[in-house]
Amino acid sequence: MTEVHRLDLDLEGRRTTMLVGAGLLAQAGDLLDAEQLRSDGTRMHLVADRGVGDAVVVHHAPVLEAAIRGGQVVGTTTLEATESAKAMPGVERVWDDLMAAGVDRRGLLVVIGGGIVCDLAGFAAATWMRGIDLVLVPTTLLSMVDASLGGKTGVNRPREDGSLLKNLVGAFWPARLVLADTDTLSTLGDREFRSGLAECLKHGLIEGEQTLAALAADLPAVVGRDPEVLPRFVARSVGVKAGIVARDFRESGDRALLNLGHTFAHAIESRVEWGLLHGEAVGIGLVAAAAASVRAGMADPSLVTRVRGLVAGAGLPVSLPAAAGDESVQAALRAAMRLDKKVESGRLRLVLLRGPGQVEVSVVADPSVVDAGWDAVTPR
Ligand SMILES: NC(=O)c1ccc[n+]([C@@H]2O[C@H](COP(=O)([O-])OP(=O)(O)OC[C@H]3O[C@@H](n4cnc5c(N)ncnc54)[C@H](O)[C@@H]3O)[C@@H](O)[C@H]2O)c1
Repeated sequence: MTEVHRLDLDLEGRRTTMLVGAGLLAQAGDLLDAEQLRSDGTRMHLVADRGVGDAVVVHHAPVLEAAIRGGQVVGTTTLEATESAKAMPGVERVWDDLMAAGVDRRGLLVVIGGGIVCDLAGFAAATWMRGIDLVLVPTTLLSMVDASLGGKTGVNRPREDGSLLKNLVGAFWPARLVLADTDTLSTLGDREFRSGLAECLKHGLIEGEQTLAALAADLPAVVGRDPEVLPRFVARSVGVKAGIVARDFRESGDRALLNLGHTFAHAIESRVEWGLLHGEAVGIGLVAAAAASVRAGMADPSLVTRVRGLVAGAGLPVSLPAAAGDESVQAALRAAMRLDKKVESGRLRLVLLRGPGQVEVSVVADPSVVDAGWDAVTPR
């Protein structure tokens, strides 16, 4: 086994440990024991991602289950990994299976899969008997560097018109242990994989020059899925989130900085017909945020070129589809932005940057700042 990177966090008195490395799944039983997460009588329930292609259920969950079994895994739930299935009926299925398996408040819920399944099953763990211990085994790059760490769990809520209010119902419930086995990424499709890189670049931009340069230097090897480089790249990226979450678990301050690029991205994702993945929208959002920062007089224009180069280097799109040039689409994107959760009392709050490591939440009153962001990513 190659080097294992370890992060320990105290989130409001709840201890979270994250391990990042290659080949961790097969060691999972020993790792649970080392963290004292089970004793002889602990009843464990496994939740596994059966999203597109069944890769997790077929390739990774059996390795995990064999490693932790020892007669203690009392049941398994498999869940569809779609945003529409990330909803209360899925949580109720997990509750019902926990009930059938007789998992009590000393039980352990172990979840393997992407961010959708981790969020949903994490919420089931948070609410089952007012909260049982949770172990997350993220299997997408995005869930390794973002969704599995920080304690946010939850589900979407459908509106009457069928659209979804994302993550509207949820709870803060940090996993006791996060096992990020970078070998599980081998089955992840290229688009999903690259999508996770946008959050890594975001972390570098938030943290500062040194981290950004280290991530950028590893980027070509990571895009080529070099198994030697992946663990340190994931650990470095998620380390940035860990630092911020440890300072501001409940998002009353610095945690909002993690929304860099996301207000633009959420508006982009509202155009569902474009079919962009979250990370693809975030990559474009990072370029837009850089351009908005220049317009706000905070940064030098070279920042836009640099961010665009990083996003392109990750194999991600740097501009919107051609249809975005249409005036009505431009108006709709701006309108969607005003509906974002970051709008307070009608004032748009954007995360802007002066440069790597100099990131701040700004109230944007001047519409030309937002316009400059959209202009930088709109094909002409
Ligand atoms: N809790 C948080 O702090 C937080 C942060 C960021 C994102 N999220 C949430 O995470 C979700 C997105 O997560 P995601 O990007 O991991 O997407 P996802 O969970 O939709 O997974 C993407 C696809 O990859 C499949 N998959 C998972 N692991 C695989 C593997 N190893 N090989 C092959 N296929 C695999 C899944 O079945 C799914 O089809 C969103 O719902 C978002 O709201 C939560």
